[in-house]
Order: sequence, then structure tokens, then C-alpha cells
Amino acid sequence: MNTEPDKPTGHDEARRNFLKQSSLLTAFTFVPGPVVQAASGELDEKVAAAFEKVTLKLDVNGVKHKLSVEPRTTLLDLLREQLHLTGTKKGCDYGQCGACTVHVDGQRVNSCLSFAVMHEGKKITTIEGLADGDKLHPMQEAFVKHDGFQCGYCTPGQIMSAVACVREGHAGSEAEIREYMSGNICRCGAYSNIVAAIQEVKDGGQKV
Ligand code: FES
Ligand code: FES
Repeated sequence: MNTEPDKPTGHDEARRNFLKQSSLLTAFTFVPGPVVQAASGELDEKVAAAFEKVTLKLDVNGVKHKLSVEPRTTLLDLLREQLHLTGTKKGCDYGQCGACTVHVDGQRVNSCLSFAVMHEGKKITTIEGLADGDKLHPMQEAFVKHDGFQCGYCTPGQIMSAVACVREGHAGSEAEIREYMSGNICRCGAYSNIVAAIQEVKDGGQKV
């Protein structure tokens, strides 16, 4: 019986190279930025480019920022870790819970699913930018009045979505509100109170 291992073919070689490169990319995804930068000299040029910082201009809550970011940085991580705006929460980090909802040029987005560099020159509003100084936004007041939260972890995302829901004209009925707020999950189950808060703002005809 032939016990010699099969000679590697060109296909095997290519597969091994692919696996090596994928493992390298995966490994570096979980390595902190400074470590990656230190090691980038040893990386393939294409891999290094993924970690090379680029300049990004953003208006966040009315403040203009000129930032240096890695292309792989999500808008959520940029807000929380670079700008220290921790009101926007990280729940699932893959688009399932809505805790990270912010407004980009007035449209609601899941900031965990969006690379920061995609928003060059855009206007970002987070929960910190909703109030007018000491005066709460009408939606914030309504959430307080109707107990639209328990632990509060989902609340910033709920409020940002609720404002968008009213602005979009999708708060015409309880069923419509529930449908257009369905991307925002509340583990505490405060849904009825959240709907009541949104209905009050919508029925009050206040500018949101
Ligand atoms: S953290 Fe973004 S959707 Fe859950
Ligand atoms: S208030 Fe606790 S998750 Fe919504």
C-alpha cells in the first residue's frame, strides 16, 4: 500500500495561500489599531491599506470635526470611542436591535452597520444632540411622561427612531407605529409605553 502523502497540486497551494491570507486578515481584525499599525510594514500592501487611516470630516450634533479614522471603523465605534458620545448604545453590533440608531442627514441608520468613512461631510445627530440645551426634545419628554423605558439601554435608539418615525409620517396608528419601530428591540418590553409616547408627540402636532 502506498503510504506516501499525495503531492500538493497547484490548487492545494492556492487554497493554502488563501487560507493563510484570510487567517491573517481575521487575526488583524481583532488586534488593536496601534498594534496593527506597528505590524503593517510586514503586511501585504492590500492588507495594510485596510488599516491605513484616512481623513474624515463630519458635523456631529452641530460641531464640525476633522478626524483620522481607519476605513474599517464603524460610525458607532467612531461616535463612542473616538468622540466619546456614549449615549448611542452597542447592543448586538450587527443590525438586529436598533440600540445604535442615529440620524444621518435626518435619516435614521443603524450606526453599527455603517462605516464612518461613508459619511464624509454629512450631518450626524445622536441622542446627545436632540435636546435644546437644558430643554428636552418633545420625544424625550413624552418617553419620561409615559415611562417608555425600564433599564434604559435601548432608549437612545428608541427615541432616535421614534423621532424619525413621526417625521417620516409613519405614526398614523398604533399598528403603523409598531411596524415602523419594529427594528428597535426592547428586552424590558416597554413597547406599549413607547407607542403611547410616540402617539402623544404625533397627536400634539409638535415640531420634531
Ligand atoms: S447595535 Fe446596531 S443594531 Fe444592534
Ligand atoms: S428599557 Fe430595557 S431594553 Fe428597553
